[in-house]
Amino acid sequence: MALKITVIGTGYLGATHAAAMAELGFEVLGLDVVPEKIEMLSAGRVPMYEPGLEELLHKHVEGLPGSTGRLRFTMDWAEVGEFGDVHFVCTNTPQKHGEYACDMSYVNSAFASLAPHLRSDALVVGKSTVPVGSAARLKEVLATQAPEGVELAWNPEFLREGFAVQDTLHPDRLVVGVESERAEKLLREVYAVPVAEGSPFVVTDFPTAELVKTAANSFLATKISFINAMAEVCEAADGDVAKLAEAIGYDERIGPKFLRAGIGFGGGCLPKDIRAFMARAGELGADQALTFLREVDSINMRRRGHMVELAREALGEGGFLGCRVAVLGATFKPDSDDVRDSPALNVAGQIHLQGGQVTVYDPKGMANARRVFPTLGYADSAVDAVRGADVVLHLTEWREFRELDPAELGEVAARRLILDGRNALDAAKWREAGWTYRAMGRPKA
Ligand code: UDX
Repeated sequence: MALKITVIGTGYLGATHAAAMAELGFEVLGLDVVPEKIEMLSAGRVPMYEPGLEELLHKHVEGLPGSTGRLRFTMDWAEVGEFGDVHFVCTNTPQKHGEYACDMSYVNSAFASLAPHLRSDALVVGKSTVPVGSAARLKEVLATQAPEGVELAWNPEFLREGFAVQDTLHPDRLVVGVESERAEKLLREVYAVPVAEGSPFVVTDFPTAELVKTAANSFLATKISFINAMAEVCEAADGDVAKLAEAIGYDERIGPKFLRAGIGFGGGCLPKDIRAFMARAGELGADQALTFLREVDSINMRRRGHMVELAREALGEGGFLGCRVAVLGATFKPDSDDVRDSPALNVAGQIHLQGGQVTVYDPKGMANARRVFPTLGYADSAVDAVRGADVVLHLTEWREFRELDPAELGEVAARRLILDGRNALDAAKWREAGWTYRAMGRPKA
């Protein structure tokens, strides 16, 4: 009999994981405590923009025309406990308000609610990003609150927003922290298809599994801040960071990815994960090992202020006062509607606070941006945002922006001045159309 799977928490991670498990052929029951989410997902709709996810839900959600019926959603813990052989806990772990540490309250309450309803042969699998040591503590919660026999495993998730479905169905590695052969065997059964297709399956203990996730995100953040530090030096020395990145990226030990200099990283993961990692290392007495992450964080935050400075400088005397600033991009990266800790929106906000008249346009992030920053101006298209602008800031590298016609925009802008905060536009194309094009860490030309 095929395993029955439940997914607790249906945010980015959980909704994608539930749909992917159904795609792999399992019967899946998803649980959330927010009724609106259950309603939406049961109708095959996703509360966020994620390419391919709605299609997958339509293919599998019970009751939708032509679906396999393998996936359904509930708010009932008892039903989940009765149903599942393997339970994936996918609740989020945001940064605590005003602190570096991560807020474990959603994970804790998921374990507390689930434990008494579990069957004695159940395997609970943590997927949330947690401070190292959490699994050991949650194992004790299960030992005291769940029936005897229930086991725990830790299986961090590495999906990227915008590629969530692809990353879940074809992961570049699977990491499982287990304490018994049975737990490993069950997880091998769950992931049999991706493993057969070539995904490496790495078996570890609990702390290593938890650390793999935070170490991977810290490495990625460090790589971005490294190239942004090089951008600062390039600017001082009249060098070109894009050429430098290309050249060092040919070294296979370095590799070309995550070397795009610009306004830096944001989103719901990298910034909060490096901070939570530092906080946890402090509790463990290993804070010295991670002091470099403080620098990674501060280089990253400096990029946003630097973009504001470049814009002010380009506008000349008087700075932003009385100036119209068009901002292209609000999300923390393209192919997402997520504006959490978005560098683009942060730059837009700073300029607004300094007196600039900011108009933002983003292909998918408008509703979220309006919600978190209602006082900014918003336009329905890139052309409308640029109309009458003294300066255009390209802050999220959507494909739509690379395909813009600089000549057409030149007709509506007050001044042909563009600053590329993502080093992603074709400089020659803009310059040919009469624009002054400037990027970060590159010569002015
Ligand atoms: C990240 C990790 O990549 C993923 O493995 C983990 O599971 C969750 O955190 P995500 O937050 O979706 O995923 O975004 P990612 O693609 O990693 O980009 C993060 C930020 O870095 C974005 O703001 C992006 O614009 C920025 N970035 C990325 C750069 O500034 N330069 C680069 O070269 C690459």
